[in-house]
Amino acid sequence: MEKFHGLNKIKTAIFISGKGSNFKNLYKFSKSKNSPVEIIVVISSNKKAKGLIFAKRKRIKNKTFEFRNNLQDEIKILDYLEKKKIKLICLAGFMKILSKNFIQKFSGKILNIHPSLLPKYKGINTHERVIKNKENFSGCTVHYVNSKLDSGRIILQKKIKIIKKETPQTLAKKILKEEHILYPNAIKKIFNL
Ligand code: GRF
Repeated sequence: MEKFHGLNKIKTAIFISGKGSNFKNLYKFSKSKNSPVEIIVVISSNKKAKGLIFAKRKRIKNKTFEFRNNLQDEIKILDYLEKKKIKLICLAGFMKILSKNFIQKFSGKILNIHPSLLPKYKGINTHERVIKNKENFSGCTVHYVNSKLDSGRIILQKKIKIIKKETPQTLAKKILKEEHILYPNAIKKIFNL
């Protein structure tokens, strides 16, 4: 990762598809004195993503690409990110799978947060599967993105205990709270802060 000198913050793009609570949280973090990142733009794969409302309210540049044609949209996104001199991408609830070509162009510079203890429970419906399998623990993971789904090198992980009466909903809530702590910490970690 490019060195952070403490003067110019790393120009960052956040990719979302839905609620955007991680985006909001990263935005808050980016405004803190010890954040190495500055959020330049939010890219959404869904024009109805709730996170866009927040972006507009805070006047953060935002663009929607609905990936009807993945290749064409990726080319447009790459162009845009280059124009904005983006050096780091944080996926935050982004539900599209980026192509190998895209990932290579930002090799080692795309992060993702996933609501499980990777490498366990890659993919979707994590909490349902965790509960169904009667796991005692779950958690969340921030990792680099490579061309295999939820498989890149792990940066930080937080483990939490599952209680007897846990439901996918209560677990999601508990884990999301931890995600909001974990993602900023993972960003600090990659910049040795
Ligand atoms: C989070 O649980 C994240 O781990 C997963 O999708 C969810 C997104 O939530 N990838 P939000 O849109 O950030 O609120």
